[in-house]
Amino acid sequence: MGSTKCAICHKKPEQGEQVRIWQESGHAKAFETLGTPEAKAQGAQKGVENPQTDGKCLKCHSTAYGFTEAVVTAAIPVEEGVSCESCHGPGKDYMKKSVMEDEAAAVEAGLVVPDEKTCQKCHNPEAPTFKSFNYAEYWEKIKHPVPQG
Ligand code: HEC
Ligand code: HEC
Ligand code: HEC
Ligand code: HEC
Repeated sequence: MGSTKCAICHKKPEQGEQVRIWQESGHAKAFETLGTPEAKAQGAQKGVENPQTDGKCLKCHSTAYGFTEAVVTAAIPVEEGVSCESCHGPGKDYMKKSVMEDEAAAVEAGLVVPDEKTCQKCHNPEAPTFKSFNYAEYWEKIKHPVPQG
């Protein structure tokens, strides 16, 4: 669906502004990063000429490629980088208000409640720049809770 669809509801302060928090995170810039000189240098070592068009890089740097080396959805522009549905699963069937308000129904319709394993699909030694991954530390930097009370 893309983050603009999730934004219809998840940009509101009373919902927790998940879209703003994501936009300010590295995940929203994951495609842009592939255009930097550092990325070109990393790519060259893997036989990749242009990281911004190669599935070997885009599989972890965009939702559009969805962990594969080929595009899985044209509905989400690659420029969006790593967005909501990379972690929460494709939103087509769960994003209706009546479904979203009922966690069990949403999970039934494909919503993923992500955990450490979700992150490790990308944060792992296959990434050319990988150093380490600590879930608690990394989650703290990108958390986006619904306000309580
Ligand atoms: C029509 C409004 C609407 C849209 C569009 C929408 N959501 Fe939601 N979402 C809600 C509401 C309402 C809740 C209930 C949680 C709360 O705010 O208390 C919710 C809850 C969630 C939760 C928490 C679920 C749980 O209980 O663990 C996630 C994750 C989520 N939405 C992700 C998304 C994503 C990703 C998209 C886009 C693909 C999306 N939503 C689109 C309204 C919406
Ligand atoms: C689809 C692949 C993917 C998934 C899934 C993913 N990440 Fe990332 N993550 C990336 C990429 C790519 C970057 C680098 C973005 C950039 O700087 O351009 C990144 C960067 C980050 C950063 C910024 C690191 C810094 O520089 O401080 C944090 C924090 C982070 N991720 C946390 C998480 C957490 C927590 C999860 C799981 C809940 C997760 N990520 C899941 C791909 C992913
Ligand atoms: C297995 C998933 C994965 C693949 C494949 C992948 N990356 Fe990444 N990349 C990541 C993650 C995760 C991060 C963020 C790491 C962190 O900050 O801890 C990242 C970060 C980066 C960074 C920023 C490094 C920094 O320290 O700020 C560059 C540049 C980069 N990747 C280039 C590439 C290039 C070029 C390719 C293709 C040859 C590629 N990546 C393939 C997951 C991946
Ligand atoms: C890097 C992975 C990742 C991305 C990207 C991401 N989320 Fe999440 N999201 C999580 C994790 C992990 C949780 C916490 C799950 C849990 O333990 O309840 C979460 C929780 C949520 C919740 C529930 C918060 C609460 O307090 O109950 C909502 C709503 C949500 N995300 C919406 C979004 C929306 C909308 C986007 C895109 C703008 C998004 N998320 C992007 C990983 C991600």
